[in-house]
Amino acid sequence: MTELNMDAFWMPFTANRHFKSAPRMLVSADGMYYKDDAGRDIMDGCAGLWCVNAGHNRKPIVEAIQKQIATLDYAPPFQIGHPKAFEAAEKLAAMAPKGLSKVFYVNSGSEAADTALKMAVAYHRVRGDAARVKLIGRERGYHGVNFGGISVGGIAGNRKLFPVALPTVDHLRSTHDLGRNAFTRGEPEFGAEFADELEARITTLHDPSTIAAVIVEPMAGSTGVLIPPKGYLKRLRQICDKYGILLIFDEVITGFGRLGADWAANKFDVLPDIITCAKGLSNGVVPMGALLVKPEIHDAFMAAAADRAIEFPHGYTYSAHPLACAASIATLDLYQEEGLFQRAAALSGLFESKAHQLKSVKNVKDIRNLGLVAGIELDSRPGAPGARGFDVFLKCWEAGVLVRFTGDIIAVSPPLIISEAEIDRLFAVIGDAIQATA
Ligand SMILES: Cc1ncc(COP(=O)(O)O)c(C=O)c1O
Repeated sequence: MTELNMDAFWMPFTANRHFKSAPRMLVSADGMYYKDDAGRDIMDGCAGLWCVNAGHNRKPIVEAIQKQIATLDYAPPFQIGHPKAFEAAEKLAAMAPKGLSKVFYVNSGSEAADTALKMAVAYHRVRGDAARVKLIGRERGYHGVNFGGISVGGIAGNRKLFPVALPTVDHLRSTHDLGRNAFTRGEPEFGAEFADELEARITTLHDPSTIAAVIVEPMAGSTGVLIPPKGYLKRLRQICDKYGILLIFDEVITGFGRLGADWAANKFDVLPDIITCAKGLSNGVVPMGALLVKPEIHDAFMAAAADRAIEFPHGYTYSAHPLACAASIATLDLYQEEGLFQRAAALSGLFESKAHQLKSVKNVKDIRNLGLVAGIELDSRPGAPGARGFDVFLKCWEAGVLVRFTGDIIAVSPPLIISEAEIDRLFAVIGDAIQATA
């Protein structure tokens, strides 16, 4: 490959200077594997960025996009429609948790979060309940990087350079409780009572009639795979119902099979008022996000606006982009045709046992898992939080496996097409990498 000039591209969420001194370049992808610029196969241990659930370079998706771009490359989404947008929404609504039948498209998980927060506040307003403006998130939550998302989000490192969050926000505590739940397989036994804080502290402090919505990731992914304690989400739902607060699930990671079920909402049998999703919605190949919304919310907007008025003054130039819609239709079809969510469920037992085999490896402090996701938490090096995680990531890369790391937590979330032998290799490589950096 000819020498690349790397000066201009300021890379997102990247240690730019370190990267540019020793670049890691992907040049192609197929199935479970990337190829790097040296021609090495790199196993995708994190579905790109939790998004390529059906694996790479899937023919039906590629062909759908090719066909679409040669037919209708772009259409403005405001006051004009195109058939693929309606087709995609109908398909998504048909596979959404029962009761969430309206689809509002955006282009990313961050946009989905901010859109959901705006929708929640506006919903109460159009019903004449304009006092409900407060938004409750959770410590260690990740809802993308826009101002709404970082306000309700709770990852300190993503907030500290931007101390201008929304003023009407509070946070629940994180459910992470290693003292009681370390090395739990599946849902932790302890911690449902963390939800009670919503009633005992937050509604008491704020007056529940001022709270518009609570937003949580059913399983917190980006902060390092925090599985919800048994019963926790049900308790949140009950308290929200009691006080007329909307419950938003951010399913940007958990949607589309990651937990061995179509949605976390179905896995945990809790129906939120709004789900945000993205990533697996289009298998990551064209940017796309969406909100799945209860019809009562949609209908309140319709009822409140005058004839010919725009009911929800919100949207993006690329909302329901024809390429994204074509990609999403082909992706959702592929998930169903290949039974990929069921496949994730069927593989989850093996995945769990291979993950937990790393328990005795030096510096492993916790392993947690559900469906096809696992988090491996490592002891931090004294005075250098995150250094060990970075080293393990680099060692895995050298060994031909791509994983994610958040601080000193390694996150494993392969495409749902992974084979049993590949699961074996994935955890063997991670184990060796942790050992090598001990
Ligand atoms: C739960 C959750 N919400 C929102 C986002 C943001 O999505 P995006 O990077 O597409 O803006 C992510 C990304 O990882 C996520 O995990």
